[in-house]
Amino acid sequence: RLGLKTSLIGQQIHYKESVDSTQKVAHRLGMENALEGTVVIADEQIGGKGRMDRRWHSPKHTGIWMSVILRPQIPLSMAPQLTLLTAVAVAQAIVENTGLEPQIKWPNDLLVNGKKVTGILTELQAEADRINSVIIGIGINVNQAVTDFPEGLRAVATSLSIEKGELINRASLIQTIFLKLEKLYLLYLETGFHPIKLLWESYAISIGKTITARTLTGNITGKALGINDDGVLKIEDKNGVVHSIYSADIELG
Ligand code: BTN
Repeated sequence: RLGLKTSLIGQQIHYKESVDSTQKVAHRLGMENALEGTVVIADEQIGGKGRMDRRWHSPKHTGIWMSVILRPQIPLSMAPQLTLLTAVAVAQAIVENTGLEPQIKWPNDLLVNGKKVTGILTELQAEADRINSVIIGIGINVNQAVTDFPEGLRAVATSLSIEKGELINRASLIQTIFLKLEKLYLLYLETGFHPIKLLWESYAISIGKTITARTLTGNITGKALGINDDGVLKIEDKNGVVHSIYSADIELG
């Protein structure tokens, strides 16, 4: 139905009208040895999951709610690189399909005109230090109107169609994401993270700016220096101490 041009991503697609969360379905398929590149897409999620135990609002017909199963032979500690890789793939696809200019807010939010259009949630199935599968959840606000967002979200979230001023073709955007994701993933397996990191930095908003990272153990404010080759964010505080941030919410300023 999508007229696939990929040989890995999306070779197997499980489409569901309504699910609790595509992540849950993908986890089950991952345990059942689904092929690498298998994708679960839903038209609506009742229990969409965001990072840090938040909910992800996933109304019917308007967004792209999907999870991709990858099985890279990499150490567990490198898995966050795939989140950054996915953010680049989605950013490229948005540029190509809409002409909008998305920016990446570390680690994985895509913003258009300063508001969030995409969130990415990476979850792992692993035994000891061996990855069985990486489940990459991608949520894109595509055709929502302003009134489709809960009031509390309108200042911080938007959709591609709101920013573009016209409806966006979801099937063709999905197709482009598959292509970009496959290309970057194969490049990554072949050459490592470095070229992906450079691409990521070309879309990043926070580098060089003052940011606050809200982590589980406290807040750190300082200048964002960039990411290292593991995808870890480096922040230099006012005393010149450089902190490595593995997981946090970022605020600009
Ligand atoms: C975030 O920014 O907090 C991440 C949001 C991830 C949402 C996607 S939608 C498809 C997949 N299924 C889920 O339940 N969550 C992810």
